[in-house]
Amino acid sequence: MIYPALLALLLSLLAFLAKRRWKRYGPEPCGGKKLPSPPSLPLLGHLLELRRQDLPVRFMELSQCYGPVFRLRFGIQDVVILNSVEIIREALIKKWSDFAGRPPSYTGDLISFGGKDLSLGDYTPLWKIQRRLAHSSVQRSLRTNLESLISQEAEHLCQDFLSRGSSPMDVANDFSLHTCKIISSMTFGVLFDTKDPEFQAIHKCIAEVVRLWSSPRVIVLDSVPLLRKLPNATLEELLRMAERRDTFVRNQLQIHKETFRPSEIRDILDNMIHFLQERQQREQSLAAEGGEEFNEDHVHMAIVDLFIGGTETTASTLTWTVAFLMHHPQVQQRIHSEMIDILGPNHFPEYSDRNRLPLLWATVSEMLRLRPVAPLALPHATTKDTSVAGYFIPKGTVVIANLYAANHDEMIWKNPTQFRPERFLEAEDPKQAHRNVLAFSAGARVCLGEPLARMELFLFLGHLLHHFRFLPPAAGQLPDLCGIFGFNLRSKPFQVRLVPWTEPGLGEGQE
Ligand code: HEM
Repeated sequence: MIYPALLALLLSLLAFLAKRRWKRYGPEPCGGKKLPSPPSLPLLGHLLELRRQDLPVRFMELSQCYGPVFRLRFGIQDVVILNSVEIIREALIKKWSDFAGRPPSYTGDLISFGGKDLSLGDYTPLWKIQRRLAHSSVQRSLRTNLESLISQEAEHLCQDFLSRGSSPMDVANDFSLHTCKIISSMTFGVLFDTKDPEFQAIHKCIAEVVRLWSSPRVIVLDSVPLLRKLPNATLEELLRMAERRDTFVRNQLQIHKETFRPSEIRDILDNMIHFLQERQQREQSLAAEGGEEFNEDHVHMAIVDLFIGGTETTASTLTWTVAFLMHHPQVQQRIHSEMIDILGPNHFPEYSDRNRLPLLWATVSEMLRLRPVAPLALPHATTKDTSVAGYFIPKGTVVIANLYAANHDEMIWKNPTQFRPERFLEAEDPKQAHRNVLAFSAGARVCLGEPLARMELFLFLGHLLHHFRFLPPAAGQLPDLCGIFGFNLRSKPFQVRLVPWTEPGLGEGQE
């Protein structure tokens, strides 16, 4: 008897909350327009939309009917979706501080010392310090000999591929191990061997944390607090993996602190320790005045985020590029010829060659445009009452920037679903065309790894296409280009034969 009564109470509470939140989106007192929203179910709102795997595409479809900005309701959570370049720029760039927040996350807090995270942390004074520190540390690293490290890694990988012969293989994990190796070297100053089982274990652990945290059984805990009381094996596994990750980072922190010398900053972690030590001295006076504390947990989580951000994203983009180029062998041929003609047969591209190798550079941008690996970015939250396109949006609203839709925006891109790197070469203003790609988002939360990712993509692709043609395992066996949508947009697993240009190849793809 008690359960139906409880259920009725719960349903009426949800109905009340939903109605109350709905009202908040009514016309603004001073005359803002009401946000369009598709018809929804009582209580559930638009929750059933979440069954769709390809949410970015679904949101694009909805924007055809409801315009580039609309509202959805998931249970009691209102979410505003932005779907065009113009609207995303207005929100994230023009009104950047209004949209710089992150929504609270129960599960995010569990794996980040109570929300001391860089990617998921809200827009607070401490977060600003953390972001500035992470940004300046990455920039500092970019100014050192990073390019030679990336080129060396790209060449190692090519030599490894050469030693395996031209039989079909899945390259996704190799790319992921190498991007992870580069970010490890930048953060910890350690050049791991990608075949070292210990390194492979931490690489796998990081991937598992992302996979488990974005699984439906964990995500649902953020919107249905009642479920937090029930046993949840996926959450327990996530906590175990996060603990393993933290032990690894803690060890690195310990080693760095023991060997730290302020006159010799070796890597990103040293740079952060240096900052922390200087700040802690100053903070003794701040604490006496009741000021907030920036501590080792913030450094720890910034390192974790660089590690996570720096591994799978760039690797997935590279994998996508191989998949698309298998469908377009003539583009492979033209990029290879461009390199040989401009640089000669014995020189690999350097990052400063971007303007001299416009097709290679355009291919990187085209891939970031067509398959942005974080298609919905990370959820933003408004930090105050604000508006976009004249629609009122209250403080604390969750806002999703649909980067996938922006990169398929027909106002900006002709035939947006086609893979055509040439579009960047033909553009009236090629530099602006490259800037129009919104794979790294924009504004206060723009990806702080963009310069690193672009350099890695350019150099790895340059080395790969200098050595190899990317051929299907057998004639016509080309990769599926639809991909798997989720938190990341990944390609489905596929096999490729990496055949040196000097060897004849069978079973090429179609142009
Ligand atoms: C192709 C490669 C990459 C893509 C497409 C990408 C894309 C993104 C996107 C869309 C966001 C969310 C921005 C937002 O919420 O509006 C983001 C955030 C972030 N990315 Fe990347 N990323 C890439 C590589 C990297 C690399 C190499 C690093 C590490 C150096 C990195 C570190 C981060 C961090 C720390 C954040 C959180 C920023 C914040 O919340 O303030 N990313 N990235």
